[in-house]
Amino acid sequence: MEKKILVTGGAGYIGSHTVLQLLLGGFKVTVIDNLDNSSEVAIKRVVELAGDFGSNLVFHQIDLRDKPALEKLFASTNFDAVIHFAGLKAVGESVQKPLLYYNNNIIGTITLLEVMGAYGCKKLVFSSSATVYGWPKEVPCTEEFPLAATNPYGRTKLFIEEICRDIYRSDSEWQIILLRYFNPVGAHPSGYMGEDPRGIPNNLMPFIQQVAVGRRPALTVFGKDYNTKDGTGVRDYIHVVDLSDGHSAALQKLFDSNIGCEVYNLGTGKGTSVLEMVDAFEKASGKKIPLIMAGRRPGDAEIVFASTEKAERDLNWKAKYGIAEMCRDQWNWASKNPYGYESPDSSN
Ligand code: NAD
Ligand code: UFG
Repeated sequence: MEKKILVTGGAGYIGSHTVLQLLLGGFKVTVIDNLDNSSEVAIKRVVELAGDFGSNLVFHQIDLRDKPALEKLFASTNFDAVIHFAGLKAVGESVQKPLLYYNNNIIGTITLLEVMGAYGCKKLVFSSSATVYGWPKEVPCTEEFPLAATNPYGRTKLFIEEICRDIYRSDSEWQIILLRYFNPVGAHPSGYMGEDPRGIPNNLMPFIQQVAVGRRPALTVFGKDYNTKDGTGVRDYIHVVDLSDGHSAALQKLFDSNIGCEVYNLGTGKGTSVLEMVDAFEKASGKKIPLIMAGRRPGDAEIVFASTEKAERDLNWKAKYGIAEMCRDQWNWASKNPYGYESPDSSN
């Protein structure tokens, strides 16, 4: 019998790529998403790319905080596990609207956990973030590093991690894997799925992409005086397909072992500067990215990259793709869908 997985936030960037991998891996998948930051077109594309497996996907437009709707869903389907992506993720917005973030991310997660517990579904994979390392004192970041959050978004991740650890302490039937993503970029190699942020992008790659397709005139580089190889900030960019594979590996771990509550970094272990990323993208796209050198962005860390040892050892997972492939696939998606899923020019 195929295992049944509930994916919250499955219409979003990382969720949609992961849902595709799950379908191709033979899982039955139910997605819930309120489409606050995504489009149902992403779900349609997943179904098409999944071919014969596409019929194993069910989508419901549900808000995580709608407890009766969640209860109805769990009453109708015995889920074997949940992958929980749903949440708001814009750091700047979280500073402006902290209650929105606490309400959506924390109340949403508590509601989900309550319903899971009530229906006896106690296997969870949760999307945490490298943001919980704050400004790390050294690199690579190992899972044992002290945790810190510098904004409400980061605090929601930190609190949810702690909530998960408490739940496990109270009831050892729970099996929970907390995945700390570093910087997800890239797109499905088909060019048919990718990131489609609303409004002005906060993150580097979507911004570069919009400059390359002519939607914005230049990239503002935040800080050129960091103590790094070229003065610009260094991050651990990871291909979204590698990240999706990491979720399959985590699920497998939940099914094959008696793991309790564990945390794993999902990164490549390699640091890349802003200028190196721009250079790689220019090579992949053949487009010039005009730059405006500016001051540091408040709250930004200097160098962040992952220790990948624990995930490699325990999950038997390792990222395969490098910066060139990330940029190639990002550009393939961007050039085919310059306005994301909603574009009249998009290749449906
Ligand atoms: P995304 O915004 O593309 O996807 C999140 C999805 O959750 C969206 O489709 C949104 O509509 C949905 N959603 C939000 N609140 C909801 C609610 N209350 N009920 C139902 N659906 C809701 O973001 P993503 O990049 O795919 O990120 C997925 C997860 O990974 C998030 O939890 C995010 O915080 C985390 N994460 C992302 C990054 C990153 O850089 N992309 C890094 C670290 C962690
Ligand atoms: N940057 C620019 N210009 C831009 C955007 C970013 O120079 O327009 C620089 C930043 O200063 C940083 C690097 O590019 O040095 C990466 O910035 P991102 O915003 O893409 O990524 P961050 O690592 O700063 O943060 C993101 C999310 C966090 C999350 C973290 C790790 O915003 O919430 O990745 O997952 F925690």
